[in-house]
Amino acid sequence: MKPRVALVTGANRGIGFAAARRLAGLGYRVVVAGRDPEAAARAAAEIGGVPLLLDVTREADVERAVAFVGAEFGRLDALINNAGVLLDRETPGLTVDLEALRATFEVNVYGALRMAQAFAPLMVRQGYGRIVNVSSIMGSLAHAGPGYLAYRSSKAALNMVTRVLAAELKGTGVLVNAVHPGWVRTRMGGPEAPLSPEEGARALVWAATLPDDGPTGGFFEGEGKPLPW
Ligand SMILES: NC(=O)c1ccc[n+]([C@@H]2O[C@H](COP(=O)([O-])OP(=O)(O)OC[C@H]3O[C@@H](n4cnc5c(N)ncnc54)[C@H](OP(=O)(O)O)[C@@H]3O)[C@@H](O)[C@H]2O)c1
Repeated sequence: MKPRVALVTGANRGIGFAAARRLAGLGYRVVVAGRDPEAAARAAAEIGGVPLLLDVTREADVERAVAFVGAEFGRLDALINNAGVLLDRETPGLTVDLEALRATFEVNVYGALRMAQAFAPLMVRQGYGRIVNVSSIMGSLAHAGPGYLAYRSSKAALNMVTRVLAAELKGTGVLVNAVHPGWVRTRMGGPEAPLSPEEGARALVWAATLPDDGPTGGFFEGEGKPLPW
């Protein structure tokens, strides 16, 4: 049997890199996608993956990614929409710059949706796929508090994208879930976070490798703990 193929966005560092490394360890061929070609090449070389230049906000990059994966592997088993930005750390929602909101949505919502739209047809054709949207508990309406309005609302929107795509893809073999990696020590999470990138990546890898009777349209932490929307 041919090895399974996974593509991880923002895989050059942080949680995305840890997930890519874990999947490579499980025998997946991993496309290590990053918006900086040198960083993607370095990360891919470290784990025996295949580098790909991919800025998720660029339509042309995404089209090229589909052509590349099709030509190189002819299939994609797991898509991990991990690339993300947090641009309104210190700003109250009452004064947040709408440009920051737009830029956040460009990556966290439109980028992830663009990737899912681009790769879902291939997954449907092969009757198998796992789409993992890396969300955050900060996007939970049930947990909402002050601040981080751009980041929170982008992850809430990504959760809705997850629900809608999961419903539309039901019965095709393609499972779509949102995961919260926990609070993780990365450039975004900062040095005080309790979890290592490897620990954070567990949720991503769990959702990327679900069995055929696994959940779809859910929001999870760790290896399958449901979270409130
Ligand atoms: N860390 C946490 O505590 C935490 C908690 C909950 C959820 N998350 C989520 O987990 C995911 C990974 O976060 P992280 O902590 O690993 O963050 P990170 O260390 O800041 O890494 C973010 C990654 O996203 C990439 N990226 C940003 N914009 C991109 C674009 N337009 N196109 C392609 N790649 C882009 C970055 O690439 P460059 O290197 O080129 O900038 C980098 O590889 C994010 O979706 C984040 O929201 C993190």
